[in-house]
Amino acid sequence: MLKENVEKALNNQIAMEGNASFFYLSMASWCEQQGLEGSSEFFYRQAEEEHEHMMRIFRYVLEMDGKAASPAISKAPDDFASIQDIFSDVYQHEQKVTQSINELVNLSAEENDHTTYQFLQWFVVEQREEETLIRSILDRLKLIGSGPQSLYFIDKEITDINRMIGDSDSSE
Ligand code: FEO
Repeated sequence: MLKENVEKALNNQIAMEGNASFFYLSMASWCEQQGLEGSSEFFYRQAEEEHEHMMRIFRYVLEMDGKAASPAISKAPDDFASIQDIFSDVYQHEQKVTQSINELVNLSAEENDHTTYQFLQWFVVEQREEETLIRSILDRLKLIGSGPQSLYFIDKEITDINRMIGDSDSSE
């Protein structure tokens, strides 16, 4: 049985993951419209992952005999200044998610809710990996710069990253 404040915080996290999914879907659409196929694939995949994160918490709340609420989704921005701006936005967003997960971990510890504390450890690792991945993409974008063929090289880098992520998923 979940304490009311823990259930509420988990439902807030469900909403955050759901909104992230649609935020990334919007980015996938923008990238595809710009002809950045590798980047759009990257964001379709991120959108699916965030949906999985949302469902992981949703099912956990129900498993704990709580009430999981289908979240309200805000309209995601659908226009972006550049691919560089998109990845900066993603990095900022993931940092907020990490902070929110950390607050949830703190709350579960304060409430002596060891089950939720343990459940959240998966997200702690996931956030570390997500932040590392986005930071490494930002580093590559900086190296490529914004010369005339930069978009071509950026998208090529992201295509390589998609392949790398796909390979590590299939070996799990
Ligand atoms: Fe599920 Fe990227 O936060």
